Amino acid sequence: MSVEIKLGKVLLVGAGPGPVDLMTVRAVRAVESAQALLYDALCSEEAIALAPAGCVRIQTGKRAGKPSMKQDEINRLMLRLARKGLKVVRLKGGDPSIFGRVGEEAAFLKGFGVETEVVPGVTAACAAAAQFGFPLTHRGEARRVVFTTARLEAGKLSGDWSAAADPEATLAVYMGGAVAGDLARGMIEAGRPADTPAVAIEKAGGAEARLYPATLATLAERIAEAGDGPLLIVVGEVAAFATANSMSQVERRAFG
Ligand SMILES: C[S@@+](CC[C@H](N)C(=O)[O-])C[C@H]1O[C@@H](n2cnc3c(N)ncnc32)[C@H](O)[C@@H]1O
Repeated sequence: MSVEIKLGKVLLVGAGPGPVDLMTVRAVRAVESAQALLYDALCSEEAIALAPAGCVRIQTGKRAGKPSMKQDEINRLMLRLARKGLKVVRLKGGDPSIFGRVGEEAAFLKGFGVETEVVPGVTAACAAAAQFGFPLTHRGEARRVVFTTARLEAGKLSGDWSAAADPEATLAVYMGGAVAGDLARGMIEAGRPADTPAVAIEKAGGAEARLYPATLATLAERIAEAGDGPLLIVVGEVAAFATANSMSQVERRAFG
């Protein structure tokens, strides 16, 4: 007699930028019905608190001095929990498809026959744009948006920055704070004027969000004032629309 093992399902869920009212209804329902919750460092306490009392909660990202779990470890853990027949929610900050490794995790689980479902979330760029009153596209000024990241390889900005040369491109740069100076230089070398508007937004989406208006020439200097929260950089004409508004509780700063 063969015993059929019922595999659980893994939902790869975007928690948005922090506040639960910026989560989708589907994401909230997923967390509220989770039997196991694996959450990353960017997920807010509020979002984690939606999980029911009996849910197994596992932190996978760096928090309060604890190191991050390795990707391979996270994959194997999700598989183990799904093999126990549990409904597993893998909760990620923002949208899981934007620098969220959703492709790798879904492919790994599918390779073992585990069903997955992706629930989208509000990515940091959209949260920042809404909160600080700037659009990501704008008729006649910005006709494409590039979601990108910036890192150095052998001391040089890696990747192809030719998109930066398009005066009508908005660049939303994730994980670029530490290399802001190289990033700005790279964009100027690619053909973007040094006075191109740029903003950095720290902790976008929540009440503690801060806006650092700049230009490519002053971006690194402005970012030096930022704290250690997650930081997004937006470069392009649309950045000139950004204003610290009443939602953000920060003072308005001068551009440049
Ligand atoms: C691994 S990526 C994850 C992005 C996430 N999946 C999203 O869609 O927003 C982490 C980076 O996203 C950016 N980020 C995420 N949340 C942010 C927030 N609330 N405010 C500003 N930047 C944020 C920062 O650049 C941070 O280093």
